[in-house]
Order: sequence, then structure tokens, then C-alpha cells
Amino acid sequence: MSNNIESHLSEDREFKPSKEFSKKARVSSMAQYKRMHKESVEKPHVFWAREAKELSWDKKWGKVLDWKAPYAKWFVGGKTNVCVNCVDRHVDEGRGNKAAIIWEGEPGDKRTLTYSQLQREVCKFANVLESHGVKSKDRVLIYMPMVVEATVAMLACARIGAVHSIVFGGFSAESIKDRLDDSKATCVITADGGWRRGGVVDLKANVDEALKKDKIVKTVIVLERTRNKVKMKRGRDVWWHDETAKVTGTHKAKSFDSEHPLFILYTSGSTGKPKGILHTTGGYMVNTYATCKYIFDMRDDDVYWCTADVGWITGHSYITYGPMLNGVTQVMYEGAPNFPDFSRFWQIVEDYGVSIFYTAPTAIRAFIKAGDELVEKHDLSSLRLLGTVGEPINPEAWMWYYNKIGGGRCPIVDTWWQTETGAIMISPMPGCTPIRPGTATMPFFGVDAAILDEEGKECKANEGGRLVIRKPWPGMLRTIYGDKKRYKDTYWSDYPGMYTAGDGAIRDKKGNFTIVGRLDDVLNVSGHRLGTAEVESALVSHKAVAEAAVVGRPHEIKGQAVVAFVSLKTGIEGTDELLKEVRNHVGKVIGAIAKPDDVYFTPALPKTRSGKIMRRLLKELVATGKVTGNITTLEDVSVVKSLQKLVKKK
Ligand code: WTA
Repeated sequence: MSNNIESHLSEDREFKPSKEFSKKARVSSMAQYKRMHKESVEKPHVFWAREAKELSWDKKWGKVLDWKAPYAKWFVGGKTNVCVNCVDRHVDEGRGNKAAIIWEGEPGDKRTLTYSQLQREVCKFANVLESHGVKSKDRVLIYMPMVVEATVAMLACARIGAVHSIVFGGFSAESIKDRLDDSKATCVITADGGWRRGGVVDLKANVDEALKKDKIVKTVIVLERTRNKVKMKRGRDVWWHDETAKVTGTHKAKSFDSEHPLFILYTSGSTGKPKGILHTTGGYMVNTYATCKYIFDMRDDDVYWCTADVGWITGHSYITYGPMLNGVTQVMYEGAPNFPDFSRFWQIVEDYGVSIFYTAPTAIRAFIKAGDELVEKHDLSSLRLLGTVGEPINPEAWMWYYNKIGGGRCPIVDTWWQTETGAIMISPMPGCTPIRPGTATMPFFGVDAAILDEEGKECKANEGGRLVIRKPWPGMLRTIYGDKKRYKDTYWSDYPGMYTAGDGAIRDKKGNFTIVGRLDDVLNVSGHRLGTAEVESALVSHKAVAEAAVVGRPHEIKGQAVVAFVSLKTGIEGTDELLKEVRNHVGKVIGAIAKPDDVYFTPALPKTRSGKIMRRLLKELVATGKVTGNITTLEDVSVVKSLQKLVKKK
């Protein structure tokens, strides 16, 4: 029996970019894409040197790539400063008066910073960090709301060669502590609080809790944002505004080696302690620059908005670094998408004339659930390009995004990548790739992606397997901070010399990649291996369904039975009749094999703070009736209780 992942959904909808879009785009035909991709993979030194030359270097590199698997060095011997490339370069080239960040707070307060103003803020803060003794390679932990100062803090660290380690503002004191213990950061940057759904998230209190027994942190810099009461520990805690008032707005940046560490970002897998993914300077810079330029097709007159939080890799690569390297104008928003209601995002798009919009499938499904009226009352005609990231996007959600948000005229770039990859790896080129609902399509330049079976043989077209990257790329992680062995074991030990992503994927005859979900989540029903994304997408294609999570539970005969947790659209009641209908619908769309044995209607699915469905929790729940695994990264812990009740009732 084959061990490959089977695919039963057939997607024949295909959309080509308009002639007008293609004409202006950087890559305007598939022939051009193929030519450039071939060059980038066969002669990476030629391709990447050309891209790198568009940025500023204090010393040119010698070799473009030094590869001793699994260790890569890019732009070897080159020296640069990422912050200078993101900020000063634009001022020096006469773009100082261009808006860099148009920011909106959740309560509705607004602020715009030009590149010149941003330069002053960053220089001031770099001076502040240095005045507190922060040096090159020191680790700085950032725990902030989505305010301009979060980006300022990141850029200031990069400017002085300090390594930032951001902890998402929704994480707990315990998460901060774990990451402090691992990174040994000496400085923490936080705020009194941040606004979220009308309330204040008490960030400083969490930092205090995390630092109770700490002996390493010397300085805590606190931004005043919400003006709630906080405790300041004398000798350790200082206010952002007091410190920046003491320094000048100029700062001479040093240059750093291309392989100088830029940041650590922790990602939590299903087991073990979080992995500190380490990214370095030159390769990451060039890769995020190039992906923004080609995939988001960024232009001088664009207003770009990525709705991620800077606490995630998407916020690192596609808020702070990539867009700023391209000198674009971007929108930044502090709060929740549903504050005061689910039309907030569309209000922002309309108010600022957003032209490029990048969000996650989880948000799109939440908008669908909330109803179309909230979208329809807004003018979204400024949009020209849409993007998604973070999870497989169900074809029906994709179609809704395409039609309702994009008005049928905006290409969608479904971008596959990971914290580890640093930059987008698989995505359409908006000016030429024919796009298909739910499909990430083609590898980006320099990415040699393949799908392998367990023996390491390349899978045939339409046969699912494991997604691997066969060659190094500039933005790749360099190691897991402090744990080389885990780096090798996790990413480089399945197939010699190749990076394993841990995702299942399928490629069609034309070479389009579709991601079917994490390999740990793949179902095995009577010897048929099914990706979770496929069954979930079949469920979501039913008109009553907003969102679905599918897991396997042990079954005597079939090996695994299919269990579906289904969230219905607002106002629809989960009757027994609907339950039958939904089951049969999956049978019709995929086949009897995928028909869920159990269907649970639930108002909410268990999601991580970054919006990914936590299937391992559901798997444990349906197998044992309990949840004992680590759920600290869960968005809403109360969901567990209600799911437990639901499963027990049956
Ligand atoms: C999933 C986010 C399907 C995938 C940038 C990957 C996706 C994990 C997509 C990484 C996509 C991300 N289609 N799946 N377009 N983008 N994923 O580290 O399983 O938060 O391995 O990085 O998200 O998540 P991470």
C-alpha cells in the first residue's frame, strides 16, 4: 500500500491577472518567471548578487554562498547595516518626507511617521540602548503592543548589532520567562499596556512576574501607551520618554558582518521547549527585500498593510524588514479585527486607500462568519493585490476573499513559508501566475522545492508527500539558538542535505504546489492518507459552514476515524438534519472515505495565538476525552472546557 498522501479534491477554477496588472508588474509573463527561476536555482551567486547590489553595503562580499550542509553563509565577508538599509537609505536618497508608517491605535488615535521622522526615533532609541550598555550581540527581549515603537525598537537593535527576541504581546509571563532563560537577554523593552478589544493588556505586570527571580536583566524600558498604573523598580525600570529625552536624534551606525545575528524568534512546536530560530543579517535582508519587491510587487505609490503582529515572523519579515527595505508606505494597526465590530479592517482599507493587503486565513474565515454586510458598506476599490499566509486557505474562503474583498480584480498571493524560512518560499507571482483557490502555486526565486516519499524519491504529479527544500536560500535559519543538535535533527535529518519543512504537499502536472497541512496531522483512514486541509476545505465548501477542524481518532477497523469540529456561520443553527447534510456533503465532494464519522458543531475552534488550529489538542480530546498537553499558546483556554463537554455528551 502506498504511504503517500492522497488527493481527492479537484480544483479547476483558475484566474489570470489582468493585462493591466501584468503590464506594470515586475514579472509579467510565465516565460520570464521560468527563466529567472532557472537562473536563481542553477546560478544562485549570479541571481542573488544582483538582488543584493540594489541595497547598500559598507563592504562588498567575497563569495555569495558558502554551503557546508546544514550550515550556510551568505554574502561571505560582506558588511552592512540592515537598519540603515531600511531607514537612512531612503532619507539619503530624497525620500525622507515619504510616509513610512501610518499607524492607527485601537481606540482610534492616529499617527504618521515619515522616513525622516522614523530615522530620528530610531537613532534616539539606539542611543538610549547604548547608554544602558547594550552592545553588539547582546540579546534584547521585546514585549510590546502593535505600536510604532515596536518597530523602532527592532530597528534600533539592528542598528547597534543587538539581537532582538520578540515575545508576542498576547503571551504570558511564563512564556517571557522561558525565552529569557534561553536567550539570556539583558534588556527588556515593554509598555505599560496595549489595547485589545477595548481592554488593556497589562504587559508590564507580566514582565514583572517573569522577572521575579531573574538575575540577568539589567534594564527594563517601558513605553507609556495606556497609562494604567504600573510598578517601576528603581535601578532597573525606566520610561521610554524619559530616556529618549536625554539623547540626540542622530546616531552613527556601524556595519556588521553579513552573518552577524539579527534576531531570535521562538516558535513552539507540539512537543518540547520552544525553539529559538536564529536569523542573520545579509541573507535575510536580501531575501525579505526581494520577496516584497516581486511577490507584493511594491511600488512607490502603494499603501501596504500586513495585519500580522510584530510578534510573529510575518511581522518581522513583512512589516518591519521587507517593506521598509523597499521604502514603501505602510499601515499599522494596534488592535483586534472585531473592535468595535468586524468592519474595522475594511474601514481602515477605505480610510487610508490601502492597495496591498496581507492577512491570514483565520481572519478571512472570521469575516465570512460575521456576514457580508460588514464588507459591503465599504469602498475597497483602492485594493490591487491581496495576500494570505499562515495556514492552508480553504478554496471557498479563497473565492470569498477574491470576490468580496478583491472585487474579482485583485490577484491573491497565497504565500507558503515558515518562521524558519525567514522569507516567502512558495507563492504566485501576481503579474503572471495563473492562480487557483487554495494553492500556493510556484516556488520563489532561489527555492528548489520538491515533494518526496518516505524513501526520498520524488513523488509523481498529484501524489502527496513531504515538502522539502533541496538547496540553501539566503533567508534560511542558521541554527536553533544554543542547540545545534536540535537544528540538525529537526530540519536536516530526514533526507541528507535537504531541509524538511514538516508539511505535506501535493504538486499538480503544471508544477503548482498545494500544502495539505502539517505531516503530524495527516489522517490515515483504512490505509488512505488524507491531508487535513482537504477534508476541512470540503466542509467549508458547504454554505452553512464557516470553519472546520478535522482530526483522526483511533478506530478498530479503519485505523483512524474522521472527526470534524465545525463552526457554522452566524445565525445558523446546528440541527441533526444539518449534521447529516454536512457529512454527506463531504462524501459528495471527496468521496465516502473522507466522510466524517463524528461531527461536532462548536461556536469556536481551539486556535493558537497566531490563529492556527491546534489539531493535536483535538486529537488528544477525541482519543482520550481529556486534554493534558501544553496549551499555553492557546488563544482562548475556555474553548477546551466547552469542547470537553461536547465530546463527553456523545
Ligand atoms: C503553515 C508563518 C499553507 C505551514 C509564516 C507552515 C501555510 C507553518 C501557509 C509555518 C500557506 C504557512 N499555505 N500552509 N500559505 N503559510 N503555512 O512558522 O504549516 O508561523 O509550516 O510561519 O504554517 O508557520 P509559522
